[in-house]
Amino acid sequence: MLQLIPMPAEIQRYSGVFSMTADTSYTAESHFSEAAEFLESYFKKLFGTAPEEKETGDIKFFYAENLAKEAYRLSISANRIQIEASAPTGALYALQTLRQLGDFDLQENPEEIQIPCVEIVDYPRYSWRGQMLDCSRHFFSTEEIKRLLDLMLYHKLNVFHWHLTDDQGWRMESKKYPLLTEIGSKRKNTQQTGWMELNYKLEGKPHEGFYTQEEIRDIVAYAAKRGIMVVPEIDMPAHFAAAEAAYPYLACREMKSEVFWWYSGIVPHTELGYKDSSWNRPACLGKESTYTFIFDILDEVCELFPAPYFHIGGDESPTAEWKKCPHCQKKMQEEHLETPRELQGYFTNCVGKYLKTKGKSLIGWNEVLDSPNIDRSVVGQYWTSKRSKAAERHIKKGGKLILSRHNAFYFDFPHSKVQLKNTYTFDPKMCHIQKNRENQVLGVEAELWTEFVADRRKLDFNLFPRMGAVSENAWTPKQKCSFRSFQKRLPHYEAVLQKLGVNYAPEKITLKNHNVKYTHAFYFKNPYLEVEDGEAAKRGTK
Ligand code: ACM
Ligand code: ZN
Repeated sequence: MLQLIPMPAEIQRYSGVFSMTADTSYTAESHFSEAAEFLESYFKKLFGTAPEEKETGDIKFFYAENLAKEAYRLSISANRIQIEASAPTGALYALQTLRQLGDFDLQENPEEIQIPCVEIVDYPRYSWRGQMLDCSRHFFSTEEIKRLLDLMLYHKLNVFHWHLTDDQGWRMESKKYPLLTEIGSKRKNTQQTGWMELNYKLEGKPHEGFYTQEEIRDIVAYAAKRGIMVVPEIDMPAHFAAAEAAYPYLACREMKSEVFWWYSGIVPHTELGYKDSSWNRPACLGKESTYTFIFDILDEVCELFPAPYFHIGGDESPTAEWKKCPHCQKKMQEEHLETPRELQGYFTNCVGKYLKTKGKSLIGWNEVLDSPNIDRSVVGQYWTSKRSKAAERHIKKGGKLILSRHNAFYFDFPHSKVQLKNTYTFDPKMCHIQKNRENQVLGVEAELWTEFVADRRKLDFNLFPRMGAVSENAWTPKQKCSFRSFQKRLPHYEAVLQKLGVNYAPEKITLKNHNVKYTHAFYFKNPYLEVEDGEAAKRGTK
């Protein structure tokens, strides 16, 4: 069995090998100069020198217009390697497959690498193969993000969804609203365990961090080189406490800002003086100043991110404040809106219209579809484990969805809850999407929320080897997916991860038939326990 993840769409295997050495040369049409740079960097790592470029090169990159943008044909025979693609991304993906066929990552000072002779024709199942990282609850450095982008390329994932703002921190520099980072990127404390007010323990240390606009441009360019589109998320109108800490006028009631940004988990109600379920802070949707602020921010963010999509979050918006606020009530009367949910729909549509003038489509978590007046052109991202009738209606009316169902794609959850097999075997029918509507599914995306992910070690542990499962789910044709086959390839994949310095969760945890040990409540009390167990399992003491 070829040790490839994700498994290509079509493979023909032949006898014989291509022998790759420091003397192997290449030739690339100008279209593929970036892919050639990657080939050169792989060669330098393997053989210490770049391969010679010459017209009669052993490895040839060809333009083939009949292939789709991300597709490629990789033909390996004893005396040549031919890569055909119609776009740089296709060639880059062919190289990833070649990298895996030759086990580039496992080699140590090789004289020669034997690559099996094959003919591979490959293309993705979905155009959207995403990974989200929440950089609000915990900040990750640009170096850590670049490392994640490198790993995404290995897995042929092509969307980096960057969750840049939330109640616990605003992480993007704004030139027009400097307090967003001066105040909104800093908090005094971090919740280490527990959920809401249950069993919570505080770290007792301040936390801060944000990305300058220059750093953001650098990340976007780094991602683009790897065929990855960066989609920013500025969560609104709720999960807005960091913005309100900086500019209290954005809230319905101006409150002492300090209480907004203490916790990395969910902000306890009583700290906020609430008796109701308003556990995250929405913006006031009545005041004009909110709309001015949002449009100004969109102007700045859209300049930085060329992607034709913009994520506005839109999840978990409590309505209690809007019901009591005179500004929100006035807006509802003026716009003939009957319910607070319609007020949210009105707001989302305003933002969507503004984004359209910039050539961007609005994406929102599936709650945005709960507003009966929502514009059908929005892209919904289906995350809830509870069935979303609104998402089903959206797709029946011709709307588009990205699927991130909680039980398959929420990688902040322990491996015992969101098991490798759930991720691998996820199918749109689990979101009640009929076969004839599957073409309205842009794709799938994994989510890494970071309330309890404070560093790279835990980030790796939560993401891997689940990223391998997302990768195959998102790329490989459904009829070729087999969890049994994936499981057989797991040890080899993990050997590669090990070499790449990835702190993956071991099979003891990812393939275990879990029983009571890691219940939901137990996990929130002990979010780091699985990691400790994982390390013990790797050391062989468990
Ligand atoms: C979400 O997890 N609230 C999108
Ligand atoms: Zn209001």
